[in-house]
Amino acid sequence: MNPLDTSKSPFTMTIGTTLDRFIHRHEQEFAYATGELSQLLRDIALAAKIVNREISRAGLLDIAGSNGTQNIQGEEQQKLDVMADIRFTRALKNGGEVCGVISEEQDDIIDTGNYQGKYVVAMDPLDGSSNIDVNISIGTVFSVYRRVSEVGTPVTLEDVLQPGHRQVIAGYILYGTSTMLVYTSGNGVNGFTYEPSLGEFILSHPRMQIPTKGSVYSCNEGQVNAYSPGIREYLNYCKEKNYKARYIGSMVADFHRNLLKGGIFMYPGTTDVPNGKLRLMYECNPLSFIVEQAGGKSTNGLKRVMDIQPEKLHQKIPFIIGSAEMVDKVSEFLAEETVKIGK
Ligand code: AHG
Ligand code: MN
Ligand code: MN
Repeated sequence: MNPLDTSKSPFTMTIGTTLDRFIHRHEQEFAYATGELSQLLRDIALAAKIVNREISRAGLLDIAGSNGTQNIQGEEQQKLDVMADIRFTRALKNGGEVCGVISEEQDDIIDTGNYQGKYVVAMDPLDGSSNIDVNISIGTVFSVYRRVSEVGTPVTLEDVLQPGHRQVIAGYILYGTSTMLVYTSGNGVNGFTYEPSLGEFILSHPRMQIPTKGSVYSCNEGQVNAYSPGIREYLNYCKEKNYKARYIGSMVADFHRNLLKGGIFMYPGTTDVPNGKLRLMYECNPLSFIVEQAGGKSTNGLKRVMDIQPEKLHQKIPFIIGSAEMVDKVSEFLAEETVKIGK
């Protein structure tokens, strides 16, 4: 083979489309094409590269393990949770497009001081914290809304408590066997793989679609006795069908696998904790926007997640997301349960 044959030789073949170039080319598709959203996305990508660097050398530095603090939800914060929170918040503050941020790791809205910023961001800076110390995939989830208050004023609660269908961008970064950034701005879903030697995210998964059917189910089945009858019956159905059980314990990683291969992820309510564990604003809504853009569905068991009007920042909901036919099936079991119990 001629090493200079650009179509075949690894020596000269094209690298592909960088995230920067992709954003630039698709800028006109953004709901309000002014260039600010593009910059916001670039800020997130930059923070993602920094966080990726810290995560990949966590074993060498004293940055694994607990930070000795708790977040507002009473969960122990890991050092890397705090590091990721600082990195993403700083990138968004410095970028200037965002007037406010809400984060899993912060009790209240962060006022960035950028009163001219037209956007707000909700984020889970590091998802799957319990997997940090054991070198298993973790992620970042983010969601962008256009503010509703007047530009030039400080961020308000109203700006962040918007239903998911008003998201303008949502995405996640998966720090896995390779690092990926997947996002949607309402025109399909595209995935970019990080090329560390270039320091660039390269388009690797254009126009992602989740298979309509799937045969993988992911939930913490250790809690099965505390799930509602409908969920328990659905789990029995999965076993009758010989579906595969796969649960990483990092929602982003479980979701990403299901997005590629087809499947369903569930974090239902339990007898003691009826709203489950996952947070509407920065975990459920962003993945819901992505799944719908990829042809899938999500529900809290009763309604479409993106139609829920949030009432508080760290609101939790039961969460079911994945391949359309699988989500429909579990919804049937839950509807029957409602009829039986007479809710
Ligand atoms: P976080 O690390 O951001 O708090 O989120 C962890 C979440 C989610 O990623 C995962 O699916 C779930 O918690 C696992 O919880 P269980 O250990 O209760 O199954
Ligand atoms: Mn999380
Ligand atoms: Mn988290």
